Amino acid sequence: MKTMHKLLIFALLVVGRVTCLDNGLALTPPMGWMNWQRYRCETDCVKYPDECVSEKLFMTMADRMAADGYLEAGYNYIIVDDCWSAMERDEEDRLVGDPIRFPSGMKALADYVHNLGIKFGLYGDYGTYTCAGYPGSLNHLELDAQTYASWGVDYVKLDGCYSDSDTMEAGYAEYGRYLNATGRPIVFSCSWPAYQETAGEHSNYEALKKTCNLWRNYGDIQDSWSVVHAITAWFVQHQDRLAPHSAPGHWNDPDMLIIGNFGLSLEQSRAQMTIWCLMAAPLIMSVDLVNITPAMKDILLNKEAVAINQDALGIQGEVIIYTNSIQVWRKPIMFQGSDKETSYALGFISYRDDGVKYAMEYTLEELGLNNPNGYDILDVFTGMEWTATSKIKVRVPPSGAVFLKATVR
Ligand SMILES: *[C@@H]1O[C@H](CO)[C@@H](O)[C@H](O)[C@H]1NC(C)=O
Repeated sequence: MKTMHKLLIFALLVVGRVTCLDNGLALTPPMGWMNWQRYRCETDCVKYPDECVSEKLFMTMADRMAADGYLEAGYNYIIVDDCWSAMERDEEDRLVGDPIRFPSGMKALADYVHNLGIKFGLYGDYGTYTCAGYPGSLNHLELDAQTYASWGVDYVKLDGCYSDSDTMEAGYAEYGRYLNATGRPIVFSCSWPAYQETAGEHSNYEALKKTCNLWRNYGDIQDSWSVVHAITAWFVQHQDRLAPHSAPGHWNDPDMLIIGNFGLSLEQSRAQMTIWCLMAAPLIMSVDLVNITPAMKDILLNKEAVAINQDALGIQGEVIIYTNSIQVWRKPIMFQGSDKETSYALGFISYRDDGVKYAMEYTLEELGLNNPNGYDILDVFTGMEWTATSKIKVRVPPSGAVFLKATVR
């Protein structure tokens, strides 16, 4: 009986090992820049030469990533979203870049960003068309995976428009096998749960972990606080179901950072950064890096915030208290290389609108912080430091955040 028991545990461990995609990538949440939220599908390069989806846009943004500290901070993927390809495949059925907007071709663009030390990501769609109506990969899955690898693609975002959501689980897995067969390490970002979950179905996260490094769980982000709030509310509502699937190599993805665009105030931008870092979400900026203000840039480059997001334990933080319209998020983080869950990042997110910084006080016990000697507290955005032995007091700005690191002492 005892041997049987051991064998069973062994079998479970072995099975457990092979149920996750094992390409050695995305051991921390991917970071980078993607055009969609800020530039959408602007294709008119005559009227909008600096804003159209073109090789010039990506070369400009890659230059800024390398020169302005983003790459150094960890933002190391530049990802081309929808609307990059020609409307027709070539004579050999291969996808090709739009000849007017990407005249040098996709390989040349990949080479350009690689020379800056940046990795290259490219969008595709599992269905017959992309969401914007460009050619999809269905019926060409293997050829497209091979084409991407031959161009030097390091990250594929595979969308799911114009496909049957019942076929996605098997279809994405097939595409994943073709990516693997190319021999090139390629981060695989899947969109299939977004189609199922927004339709009210629960996706199969065990299957997702087997195939994908990250996956979009829910609807697209838009340039407003109300959508940041709606996406956050959905992830909190489903946190018990989703958070256990987030770990090194595979991540829940609530979509891009909109920090620095038109829709969020400074405090709201800090709040998005706080939530995304605590959720161990991919940090994919989508912003004009040429014209971004220094204050917004500081949020994206905040070293402590990024370090919390990139913590090697890879635990997705969760909301543990929600009173007075203020959420308290808690994410266990590593302490001095030990994987004991003894230190924490804490986020206090206000959905209030009453115009004052709202004062809240929490006992360490309420926060689940049980070290008898207390904690060294660092305010991530102000740099203030203090020691907490019994309580943590915060004043949270309306639709804003206080972001703390509590290190065990
Ligand atoms: C392909 O899959 C195998 C088995 O999971 C893995 O060991 C290998 O690293 C993968 N190769 C690439 C290039 O992803």
